[in-house]
Amino acid sequence: MSAVLPSSAALYDRVRRVIPPIEWPVFVDDIDAILKLKRQRNAVILAHNYQTPEIFHCVADIVGDSLALAHKAMTVDADVIVLAGVHFMAETAKLLNPDKTVLIPDLAAGCSLADSITAQDVRLMRQRYAGVPVVTYVNTSAAVKAESDICCTSGNALAVVKSLRVPRVIMLPDEYLAKNIARQTKVEIIAWKGHCEVHERFEAADIRELREAHPGISVLAHPECPPAVVAEADFAGSTAAMSDYVARHRPARVVLMTECSMSDNVAVEHPDVDFVRPCNLCPHMKRITLANIRSALEENRHVVTIDPHVTERARWAVERMLFV
Ligand code: 13P
Ligand code: SF4
Repeated sequence: MSAVLPSSAALYDRVRRVIPPIEWPVFVDDIDAILKLKRQRNAVILAHNYQTPEIFHCVADIVGDSLALAHKAMTVDADVIVLAGVHFMAETAKLLNPDKTVLIPDLAAGCSLADSITAQDVRLMRQRYAGVPVVTYVNTSAAVKAESDICCTSGNALAVVKSLRVPRVIMLPDEYLAKNIARQTKVEIIAWKGHCEVHERFEAADIRELREAHPGISVLAHPECPPAVVAEADFAGSTAAMSDYVARHRPARVVLMTECSMSDNVAVEHPDVDFVRPCNLCPHMKRITLANIRSALEENRHVVTIDPHVTERARWAVERMLFV
């Protein structure tokens, strides 16, 4: 007997606050096809918090921040994983699931942070700061992870730094994340010059303007934002931590200083909260669509592979982080 697929009407009920009725018919055919393909191929879809609501709320099986996706990738019971997110996330899922097929719907879904550093850069940093451990943000290629002692995400960076019990660490490649963590610890942090092209565009002045326009508003910022922005926010944390903050505090009005889809996805869960939305789009995350998720499952593309020369060392750096 085949399992009953959720009807389009039931799915639309979930997202009606963020998808206008006129747009919904455009999505229905792809959603139905993806739900069937997932069952036929024994596939699961892992979706990052920045995916659009028709992906995040209607076809994804597992959602979350980079840390949650990595943790949950370890427990996936399926033959195929489709990563609705960017390439480094798909590589992490592959590292943790070497025997499964991992697909990314668009190979060009990159990340400005991952592009800001190469494995050779990490080797040069090691030469320059001999003996200082290297903490690498997961927003990097597998080759860069392989040169690192341990990975971190925005959700566990402070805990990872503390876990090393050393006076100095190199933290790559996000300069702002490194500086925002440095403010919370006595450990000296040596940073790189990488930036997220989405979060670097926020300014402290934006927050002052928002507070003037919306007295009492809660301002939450991602730690990839410049330190001046984080300093003026009421809270800074990973995408999952921002979502948890809204769930716990139920602010009457909130702004999330991060990628645009985040507010839509959290707003679906909290009809009582008013989301003010000056946000910046991540062009890489937005390369993933229902149409290319469907093609990924129909045509088994694009299969994520990792250079065997770096696989073991990169996996070690990711797994070590997951046990902090
Ligand atoms: P999170 O790990 O907080 O979800 O962040 C990932 C990311 O790419 C933020 O820009
Ligand atoms: Fe990379 Fe920034 Fe996009 Fe996240 S939001 S994937 S850090 S470019």
